[in-house]
Amino acid sequence: MEQLAPATISEWIAPVDDRVVQIAASLGLHPGQFDATRIRAIVDQAGRNSQTSSLESSIVSALTIAETHFLRHRMDFEWIVQQWLPGWIERAEHGRMRIDILSAGCSTGEEPYTLYALLRQPLSKEWDLAVTGIDINETSLNVARQAMYGLWSLRGVLPSEVDAWLHPEGGRWRVIEAVKRGVSFQTHNLMNPFDGPDLFDLALFRNVSIYFHESAIATAWANLVHALRPNGVVVVGPSDPVPPQSLNLTLEWHGDVRTYRKSGTRPRPPAAGATTPPARSRNEPNAAIPLPAAGPAPTRPAPEPLDEYHLVAALAARGDRETAWRLAIEHSKQEPLRVDWHLLAAYLSAELNRTDLAAESMRRALYLSPQQPFVAYMSGVMLDQGGRAAEARQRFNWAMELLATMADESFPAHADGMTVRQMKELIHARIVAAHH
Ligand SMILES: C[S@@+](CC[C@H](N)C(=O)[O-])C[C@H]1O[C@@H](n2cnc3c(N)ncnc32)[C@H](O)[C@@H]1O
Repeated sequence: MEQLAPATISEWIAPVDDRVVQIAASLGLHPGQFDATRIRAIVDQAGRNSQTSSLESSIVSALTIAETHFLRHRMDFEWIVQQWLPGWIERAEHGRMRIDILSAGCSTGEEPYTLYALLRQPLSKEWDLAVTGIDINETSLNVARQAMYGLWSLRGVLPSEVDAWLHPEGGRWRVIEAVKRGVSFQTHNLMNPFDGPDLFDLALFRNVSIYFHESAIATAWANLVHALRPNGVVVVGPSDPVPPQSLNLTLEWHGDVRTYRKSGTRPRPPAAGATTPPARSRNEPNAAIPLPAAGPAPTRPAPEPLDEYHLVAALAARGDRETAWRLAIEHSKQEPLRVDWHLLAAYLSAELNRTDLAAESMRRALYLSPQQPFVAYMSGVMLDQGGRAAEARQRFNWAMELLATMADESFPAHADGMTVRQMKELIHARIVAAHH
């Protein structure tokens, strides 16, 4: 592949292909934020890849980040199931026994499937539940519709948490039909209005607007809020920017979960869990503490810079694992000191049943970062997956020892925004599960 000097997309691409700049603008993305090498690499790669249909969709793929996994930011789902759902049902309009949920920027579908699976279970059968996943990236939506996932999509969950609705099939996992039927997918650009008002009771809008420019953030929020029912709630991700004040949304904190509530046309009884304790305590996960609507987003790790790694991870997420695997192996040789290449190469090798290569890449990752709990944890997950439970347990114990030296609310490297406390809970549950 031809090497280009680093430049912004506008410098490199404008004379070559205005289409990229136009598409970036139509998605609300700030073209200056993108590395030209990355865009060209993805468009080139997609051009050679029969699974990607048109130049247009290749460019959309190049400009968007598909990264996601089941139960990502799990505290959001805990709050939705334990607090939001009972509160919403309690004040449902007479006779209306239907809940509509939006996953805005749903990528490859892990988020909407998680929502449906977790919310369907506590609802009695008189209730209808519909989850809609929208995204601008058709390649990601095609993966979502296939409802078949690899190990990486399950990195934040325990097998026992999902075994009721994700069934193993040939080394991968398939979403069961009952969950698949409850989720629909549509191509939709958040820069455009939805089909009407009053469509959704709850929307997840997480990890999508971080790369939008200011006016695009405002447009996306206005469209989203218009489509919400009165008192409807938007759940955002930890690093997401705040919505414009002009929308008059009420910011509520529920422990670490940040939500924005649309005003209601009827007087609203207090939401379950939305009390006003005197001070915010991180140890009380369901305490909701209203902050001023214009308050800043919490300080979180900044989104990772977009580079070749994201290109390859995105290819894997969208189903081209063979190409992604080849590129991950190549890059892990070119940049042998970068642990994320080895991690990516390891789990892609495992997914493709190249067991020896998986073990070798994992060994290198551990060698480079023996003190990183996420690396030890992933190594344990892979060993567990390969039926080597005793060795897996050693890795989990090692990860726990490392986590014990870190502050509970800090963010371990490579763990995609999971806190030390959440990782401890996850690994503890894995250790307990391994004993049974
Ligand atoms: C990082 S993924 C987030 C997936 C999921 N919400 C999560 O948090 O795990 C961001 C998604 O937003 C989508 N996206 C970006 N700009 C968009 C736009 N203007 N309209 C709709 N989707 C968009 C991307 O295609 C990508 O799939």
